[in-house]
Amino acid sequence: MIWLIGCNGMLGREVARQLKENNLSFVGTDKEVDITNPDALDAYQKNVMTSFYSLDSKLPESEKSISWIINCSAYTNVDKAEEDTELAAKLNAEGPLNIARVARKLGAKLIHISTDYVFGGDGNEPYTENMEKNPLGVYGKTKADGEDAIEKEMVQYYILRTAWLYGFEGKNFVYTMTKAMNNRDEVKVVNDQFGSPTCTVDLANAIITIIKKTNNAKGFFGSNSTPAFGIYHFTNEGQTTWFEFAQAIYKYGRKYKRITKDCAVNPCTTAEFGAKVKRPAYSVLSKEKIQKELKIKIPNWEKSLKYFMKSKRFEVKK
Ligand SMILES: NC(=O)c1ccc[n+]([C@@H]2O[C@H](COP(=O)([O-])OP(=O)(O)OC[C@H]3O[C@@H](n4cnc5c(N)ncnc54)[C@H](OP(=O)(O)O)[C@@H]3O)[C@@H](O)[C@H]2O)c1
Repeated sequence: MIWLIGCNGMLGREVARQLKENNLSFVGTDKEVDITNPDALDAYQKNVMTSFYSLDSKLPESEKSISWIINCSAYTNVDKAEEDTELAAKLNAEGPLNIARVARKLGAKLIHISTDYVFGGDGNEPYTENMEKNPLGVYGKTKADGEDAIEKEMVQYYILRTAWLYGFEGKNFVYTMTKAMNNRDEVKVVNDQFGSPTCTVDLANAIITIIKKTNNAKGFFGSNSTPAFGIYHFTNEGQTTWFEFAQAIYKYGRKYKRITKDCAVNPCTTAEFGAKVKRPAYSVLSKEKIQKELKIKIPNWEKSLKYFMKSKRFEVKK
């Protein structure tokens, strides 16, 4: 049995959808089981375990306990985190620690989601997993602390760092741009920050593949068949800027009639845009480790964006 935490968030909803599609049994919780409250987490797991035993005797033994926790919950508002430091730390650092403790107690494996913002973004070649963390703001710092807490607390974890995430259910850059392009004659987008847009469909698919491979570890993880727990990077392949990403959104938006009028897409600099929080200028993550060690296939960002904008699940925001 899998416990999906943060099941109402943008990534959480996609993971829930794919767990169902793959016939993997799971329970989902969000804010009602507060990750900052260890007692709430503990009470919930006890309650779930009791109900498995009493209600469903037909369940196979392997399903009668929580064997995986996927944590998609977080404090994700990068700008607001600068003032809301206490809550950001509670959700992004203390929460993962509490979850790791419950996972260890249950003997469950953990998949936790982290971010490119743990890096400073002053490099010019893809960040590998073991490179030094140097977060620029509160969000990145608290997410880095969350990673450290998990690493200290347990062994059977996968921390997946991702970036520039967008998905069908949730506020994100693709929907924001589509709406702006439908309402304005021009949008200006920064052209000096480099990264890799990532569709939740692909990240959720990677999460499920990792669970399946770990459950059937024999043969997948080299000669000793031991699951290779640790930190991994997962984004879509390729790199781009927010401006080029916006250009692609406009191209496919027009093609699939998500954008129904002309709009000029023009570049600007980060300084001209004047964002409140310093963001990494270069946050491309190397995916070599996840491809090599976990044999995860990663689609190119533009291909995934095209699929996303063409899909019936895309919600046009006017
Ligand atoms: N979005 C990105 O561009 C991006 C980039 C890199 C990494 N990531 C990481 O990817 C993961 C998923 O991001 P996302 O964009 O899907 O996040 P999201 O949409 O903000 O979802 C987070 C979920 O956690 C819930 N939550 C808040 N406080 C909670 C609490 N105390 N206990 C339990 N649940 C709580 C939120 O509820 P409310 O909405 O009601 O607060 C929300 O449903 C996060 O770890 C994030 O740091 C995201």
